[in-house]
Amino acid sequence: MSELEKLAAEVSSCTRCLLHKARTKAVPGEGAEDAEIMFIGEAPGFHEDQQGRPFVGAAGQFLDELLARIGYARESVYIANVIKCRPPGNRDPLPEEMEACKSFLDRQIVLIQPKIIVTLGRFSMARVFPNARISVIHGQAHKVDGIIYYPMYHPAAALHQPSLRRVLEEDVERIPDLLKGVVQLSETHAEPEAQQLTLF
Ligand code: URA
Repeated sequence: MSELEKLAAEVSSCTRCLLHKARTKAVPGEGAEDAEIMFIGEAPGFHEDQQGRPFVGAAGQFLDELLARIGYARESVYIANVIKCRPPGNRDPLPEEMEACKSFLDRQIVLIQPKIIVTLGRFSMARVFPNARISVIHGQAHKVDGIIYYPMYHPAAALHQPSLRRVLEEDVERIPDLLKGVVQLSETHAEPEAQQLTLF
């Protein structure tokens, strides 16, 4: 069993917050253990809770389409959420729920060591940019503790607000170039160039 699989087993039996009482299945996350790109959403919804898998509902279908635009299958990236159990009625996650779940995501990031973390939506963005507004910083890469963070709108937002669909498509299409830059940087260990990736 890999460390990520052990972590997933821990998540599945977690009782650190009250969400465990109402869940059908916890949703630890899934994808390639050596993924270069990690996507972090907000919380499982109805379908995710039923299946124990992230982004399998309507928002997930759009995420799959966005990945296909840049030639990635979902199996080649890693997909996780800020919190691992569904909040009742899909309400926003509570601060204490995010705090209780925080170390799981922190450990996933350490184990996967992605080159880029794409945050989906404002709760995921706020873990790294607590005071930022997504309408301002979406589509802008920023290096934090050696990892490129790339905030995007949540795919579900485009289902409610169709004009965001194009915004998400444009933002996702910048990832391959960003990744190329990251790959060169990690090969040359060129810190000064790394700063060029800080776009704000
Ligand atoms: N929305 C999320 O943020 N995560 C999921 O897994 C599904 C929908």
